[in-house]
Amino acid sequence: MASINGERLMERIRLLGETGKDETGWRVRLAASDGDKDGRDMVVGWMEDAGLKVVVDRIGNIFGIWETEENKDRAPLMLGSHIDSVIDAGQYDGCYGVIAGIEVIKTLKENGYVPARPIMTGAFTNEEGVRYAPDMMGSLVYAGGLSTEEALATVGTDGTILGEELKRIGYEGTVDPGFATPSAFIELHIEQGPILDVEGIQIGAVENLQGISWQRVTIEGAANHAGTTPTALRMDAGLAAAKVITFLRDRCDQSGGRTVATVGCMEFEPNAVNVIPSKAVFTVDLRNPDEGNLKKEEQALAEYLKELEQTDQVTIRTERMARSTPVLFDEGIVKAVEQAAKDRGFTCRRMTSGAGQDAQMIARMCPTAMIFVPSVKGISHNPREFTREQDLLAGANVFLDVVKQFSAEA
Ligand code: GLV
Ligand code: MN
Ligand code: MN
Repeated sequence: MASINGERLMERIRLLGETGKDETGWRVRLAASDGDKDGRDMVVGWMEDAGLKVVVDRIGNIFGIWETEENKDRAPLMLGSHIDSVIDAGQYDGCYGVIAGIEVIKTLKENGYVPARPIMTGAFTNEEGVRYAPDMMGSLVYAGGLSTEEALATVGTDGTILGEELKRIGYEGTVDPGFATPSAFIELHIEQGPILDVEGIQIGAVENLQGISWQRVTIEGAANHAGTTPTALRMDAGLAAAKVITFLRDRCDQSGGRTVATVGCMEFEPNAVNVIPSKAVFTVDLRNPDEGNLKKEEQALAEYLKELEQTDQVTIRTERMARSTPVLFDEGIVKAVEQAAKDRGFTCRRMTSGAGQDAQMIARMCPTAMIFVPSVKGISHNPREFTREQDLLAGANVFLDVVKQFSAEA
């Protein structure tokens, strides 16, 4: 049984992890930023080193393609993940899957394996959605869920336009996204949650993924003097925003842990110590594995916002930033992951992805599933994100075996 080169995998995770750092040492490899360019250049170099044909599509997705004269007319098996990051990120989220995709192909080539179909591995643009919403944008465009033009016109949190930024860093390609319909898609990723670590299990066979709803909420009240305005007469946008946060937390508690909700960004106006906020703008990230329940949560929030307009004398408007429905992955690939883990002597369990993933978008095009490895203490979107070397290698070897299986037959 061939195995991936563990030293090479670890060194590349470290090297890619050094890109995208700002002056304070935070890893901020936001989509289409200078740091993203540095990471992309590194990934392209590794694809070329593996002898892959590098294709960049119009939304900036990068693919390394291994095809032969004999198999080039068949649908490719697709692998991939992303290298853009959140603000002050860890080094494994997305990068692990991109590096392992290249590593798996390089290992197969080094072992003289001849696939019956092409294998392509990708780094999708803007999975995180921190700078440009929606998240999973590159894979969504690739799968036909958003037009390339609309995506390229997206205005970022810093006022930049994605298309211009991709051009600036040299990654607005010429090929139309969706240029190849894969036979299947397999993504390797760290779990980013605590389940595998707590249970001491090495491999997660990911069978589904929860739905994600992102909204921006704007509450308008009235600025007034912090010392002279009696409580009953205030139209306090800040207080109303705080009530929304606690409302969401109560809903999560009542859901028995099925719903999770996060208010991750908030800004007040005029933002002064002695002025009642006239305006609060904040984001809501709501998730649930069941579409019906996610809709109920969105409805409950909408009703609560209406109620707040009355009780707190504010006006409220909402904008949809992103919405994806829960996804059920392909049973055949999930079973193959379980079997590959067993054959290598690793413990394995089925699980749900709490995080958004490029796989959920590509699942619109072809049978898809994911492989997870443990995140120590379940920490992610944080520089303390960590996965042990033996787990990273275990996941990459299971990935190798499943890739081999799904590329062996035409
Ligand atoms: C992506 O990491 C997400 O789940 O927000
Ligand atoms: Mn990720
Ligand atoms: Mn992430």
